[in-house]
Amino acid sequence: MNLEVVILAAGKGTRMCSAKPKVLHQLAGQPLLGHVINTAKALSPKKIHVVCGHQAKALQEAFSNESINWVYQEEQLGTGHALLQCLDAFSPENAVIVLSGDVPLLTVNTLEKLASLASKNPLSLLTAVLDNPTGLGRVLRNDKALIMAIREDKDCSEKERAIAEIYSGIMIASVTLLQKYLPQLSSKNAQKEYYLTEIIEMAVKDKVSIGSIKAKNPVEVEGVNTLIQLEDLERKYQKQQAETFLAKGVILKDKSRFDVRGDVCIARDVIIDVNVILEGKVIIEENVQIGPNCIIKDAHLKKGAVIYANSMIDGGIIGELATVGPFARVRPGTELAESAKIGNFVEVKKTYLGQGAKANHLSYVGDATVGNFVNIGAGTITCNYDGVNKHQTEIGDNAFIGSGTQLVAPIKVGSGATIGAGTTLRRDAPQGELTLSHSPNKTVRGWQRPQKKEKPVEQES
Ligand code: UD1
Ligand code: CA
Repeated sequence: MNLEVVILAAGKGTRMCSAKPKVLHQLAGQPLLGHVINTAKALSPKKIHVVCGHQAKALQEAFSNESINWVYQEEQLGTGHALLQCLDAFSPENAVIVLSGDVPLLTVNTLEKLASLASKNPLSLLTAVLDNPTGLGRVLRNDKALIMAIREDKDCSEKERAIAEIYSGIMIASVTLLQKYLPQLSSKNAQKEYYLTEIIEMAVKDKVSIGSIKAKNPVEVEGVNTLIQLEDLERKYQKQQAETFLAKGVILKDKSRFDVRGDVCIARDVIIDVNVILEGKVIIEENVQIGPNCIIKDAHLKKGAVIYANSMIDGGIIGELATVGPFARVRPGTELAESAKIGNFVEVKKTYLGQGAKANHLSYVGDATVGNFVNIGAGTITCNYDGVNKHQTEIGDNAFIGSGTQLVAPIKVGSGATIGAGTTLRRDAPQGELTLSHSPNKTVRGWQRPQKKEKPVEQES
């Protein structure tokens, strides 16, 4: 049986108190809807439909590179009404998984278990047992534990409200079942909405077998309706990530001051100090050390590399035993070879730094290829931009660049060359030679420092 997925995301999200659509608010660096789309994609469904209404255009723009069938629900008349809008797009032989755009942490594993029920049951529900089920639909079961109905919180009797098992909003149903029941939904309930959950009673009446599984981890089915819930879910997610890494041998100095916002792989015996944020795609090999207050984005840190405090890496490969910082900025397209060093207040962009090469203090190195064991003195700048185009700087192995040098690109420094301190290099420097801007010092004999002028004493007239 083939799967189709529907993600319900047309709601206004009034309780977020925000101009931004709810499902575009971020959790772990990604929009809520992005999490749900990724989970859906992992099931390789035939189609993913997203029901949108409020700010539909903003949603479509945010996910323009995903292949999604956008279904427009003009008025938000309820979850059943939302699914009804998709009916024509479904293939009759398929089964449909219904997800909520505001429930971001559902795992693929749980969803696969739910999907596996579809071979035996035309309808199956994901439920959870919660300490506080307030506001959610309760699962009503008979004395044989068979599901009889889902009762919305607002429609519950006192006795029903005491039930701890809730419906997660996530179900799988055959298209034929949906075709039969969706057009029959009424809105005779406390909220005057077309509830998708009404199909359960209809199925029970027809003796359709209904499957169900309970989510093991209630965080998986937690929805976001307010910014307080969003922050709470973010912290739960981060704690879960941190504990997973700790369990695998990653040393975190404080699991509550560690944030993962992306797809991160960390080897054991890596030491991570407080306030570190990992973003995008990050690979960290064994024995890497990351100091406090570092942001590491889209980077690969090889074995034994050390990132000192307050450094920012945004796109780059940091070689084995290489060191970065403190207070360094590595920008996209940078590669440091083994044992290379980037020191304090150094910015590096689109640059290859060879084995053992160093730029230890206060420099800008951009669009450059730097050979092995080159020493770049303090205050060196690659002047890579002429106001219109960017140009390359090439520095050969073992070159020594004196402090305060400006390398006006495009330019080449030969291997073993020495550039005198304070040089503005405008022509290529030959290998093995000393090149410098020759302007001998001038001494002005008898020169006097300016004196502070005395204020004239005001005369009384
Ligand atoms: C729904 C379930 C409830 C369940 C809960 C779990 C129904 C009737 N109730 O309640 O049993 O416990 O989820 O979180 O299904 N949406 C649309 N169009 C609409 C209405 C809603 O696209 O017309 C979307 C919303 O944007 C949201 C999702 O459907 O993503 C759920 O809607 P919401 O109104 O939040 O349902 P709940 O009251 O939370
Ligand atoms: Ca909800």
